[in-house]
Parts: sequence; structure tokens; C-alpha cells
Amino acid sequence: MSRDPARWSKRSLAAQALGRVDPLTRAIVPPIHVATTYLRDEDNRYSSGYVYGRPDNATVREAEAVIAMLEEAPAGALLFSSGMAAATALFQALEPGDHVVASKVMYWALRNWLAGEATRWGLTVTFVETDNLDALAAAVQAGRTRLVWIETPSNPLWTITDIAAAAAIAHRAGARLAVDSTAASPVHTRPLALGADIVMHAATKVLNGHSDVVAGVLAGRAQDPYWEKLAAIRRQHGAILGPFEAFLLIRGLRTLHLRAAAQARGAMALAERLAAHPRVARVLYPGLPQHPGHDVAARQMEGGFGYMLSIQVSGGEAAAIATAARVGLWKRATSLGGVESLIEHRASIEGPGTPCPPDLLRLSTGIEDPDDLYADLDEALTGAHAADKV
Ligand SMILES: Cc1ncc(COP(=O)(O)O)c(C=O)c1O
Repeated sequence: MSRDPARWSKRSLAAQALGRVDPLTRAIVPPIHVATTYLRDEDNRYSSGYVYGRPDNATVREAEAVIAMLEEAPAGALLFSSGMAAATALFQALEPGDHVVASKVMYWALRNWLAGEATRWGLTVTFVETDNLDALAAAVQAGRTRLVWIETPSNPLWTITDIAAAAAIAHRAGARLAVDSTAASPVHTRPLALGADIVMHAATKVLNGHSDVVAGVLAGRAQDPYWEKLAAIRRQHGAILGPFEAFLLIRGLRTLHLRAAAQARGAMALAERLAAHPRVARVLYPGLPQHPGHDVAARQMEGGFGYMLSIQVSGGEAAAIATAARVGLWKRATSLGGVESLIEHRASIEGPGTPCPPDLLRLSTGIEDPDDLYADLDEALTGAHAADKV
């Protein structure tokens, strides 16, 4: 039997969380390390490599190793206390006066932070439709743009940006490309292999998968000064993940491949059926051939198109909100990526200035029976329409 991990697929390695065994007990689930400090050696060194709990925790490092394996990240991975902490670190590592280009359609809280706090701090931010490569190329300024930020598929329209083309545009200008790959998961897209420099996930979502951990992660291509600065920002700001959360994340990662595949299959089945529903004006899902990003998605996504889709409800905003109020199996809540399916009237949470249409419902597909999920939505859509007519 070979003991060389290079022989096994990422799915096998993730299922065993890289196969680590506790050396003391030979337990196949290693312990949760809770110590905040570590003993110095007699010769005044720290030969274990562990000094203090803020930068150093073995359970956190284990979770990072699994994610670095999944993303094939030579620099490794850095876990943060949330997706926002991970994403904002990438911009905080730049200098005032630097220029960044970011997707117009992206996770709303990060867009607001970039337009507000980051801009006040001194970054110049250009928002552009990054699925339009000509517009992206025109927005990037050679020698001045330091970071191009894309999210693909992007919240909540599931717009697709061509990662390889965006990387080429960024690199030509001397900038890095960072990708929020939360909605794709490492199972369906490998941004680093496509040319990105850094991949980010809100690990709160499908990586953990059980709606019980808030976490974020960066996985990097190069262990360069920028990467070191990201590690320093985490250490100095203290935006670290707790050991219990890291343990739960490892546990979630063990079933990632099964969950992501089942959720993507469910999302595809729902998208196809909802596209023919009389109360649905439009389905936004990159797996559908009519989605504007389908061809690029088919090229850069493997084994499925992810677990997120949106529908635009006939009858507008009131009909959309009434539909969300009528579901039973779907849970009417924000967030995404868990094993339970969630439905949300997205414009209600994003507020004024959102590019999200008012009639849009965002659907995060879980692992329930897709027939049940469809039947529940069908009843809610039909019931909301009938109530409107009374
Ligand atoms: C695509 C995407 N990126 C980033 C985030 C931020 O993650 P967190 O809520 O863990 O800070 C979210 C949260 O919903 C998200 O959906």
C-alpha cells in the first residue's frame, strides 16, 4: 500500500482531513488544541514553532492545510475570523494611493466597504462589469492598479467572469488577481490553476456547510512579501479563527465533495424546472445554456455550476416577498452554502443603491430532495400569485 498522499485524489484526502493521526493516542480525529501559549525550550528557543495562540494554533493550521490542498495553493492558506476579515485583509495590505478594480456585482457588504472605508483610507476603487473583458481591460491602469478583485459566480446575479482572461489582463498591468470563489467552491473551480494569484472563500458557506461557523480563508500562489503582509495583518489585527470553529470546519471539509456535488445537482434540477414555471420571469443560473456566462462557466467550472441560483418572480417585488413568506421546507434566511436550503429577498437586505433587481429571490440549494424543494417553491409561487388576485 502506498503511503504517498500525492497518489490520492483531493476527494480522498479531504474525506480523511489529510489522514492526520494524533501521535499520542493514535486517534484518527486529532484533538482540538485550545492552549493560548506554549513552553519555551531550555535553550530559550521555540523549537515546536508554536509561540502564542494568536498567530499559532495547530487545529487552525490543520484546517488551513486541507484548504491549501483543495486549492493546490503553493503558499498555503490563511484562515480568518470571517469572510469579510479575509477579503478586507487583501485591500489593507495595499498602500494608500493604490488603485484597485472590482466587480460591480459582488457580495454587497464588501462592495460597501470598498466604496466607503477603503476609499476614505486612500484606495482608489473602480467598479466595473468584470464579465465584460474589454471594460475590465479599460479599467486597469498599468503600473498603478495593484489588485483586481472578481467574484465568480457573483452574488446575487451569478455573473461569470473569465478567470484566465482576467488574470492575463491584471498581470499585463502588473496587478494581482484575487477571486472570491465562495459560490463555486474548490470542487467546481480552481482559480489558482486558471492563473489567479489568490483565492478567497467565505468558509462560513459551503466549505463548512452546516451554518454553524463564521470563517474566511485566503489561499495563495506565491509566498512573497504581499503574502507575508497578509499573515502579518491577521496576526496584528487579531482576526483569527478559534480552535473549535477550525475543528468544525475540518469536519465540514470531510464531506465537502459529496455536499457540493449534491447541491450543484439540486440547483441544476431546480433551475431547469423553474425556467418553465409560469410565475417565474427569469432564472439566473450559470448551468443554464441561456445564462450569458454559460460558455465561460462550462469552460472554467468542473463537475457542476454550484449551489446558488436566483429567480425573478412575475408580478415584481411584492410577489417575490409574498413567495418567500409562503415557503415551508425552504428557510427564509440570509447566507448560503449550508445543507439546508435558504431563500431570501435579496434587495431587502442590500438596501438602496443595490444592483439587485427588486423582484429577485436568491436561492441557496441544500441537500434536501430536489423534488420536495421544487414542490415547496411551486406552491409558494402559485399561492402568492393566487393571493394577489383575491
Ligand atoms: C460571496 C461572499 N463573499 C464574502 C462573504 C463574507 O463572508 P462572511 O459573512 O463570513 O464575513 C459572503 C457572505 O455572505 C459571501 O456571500
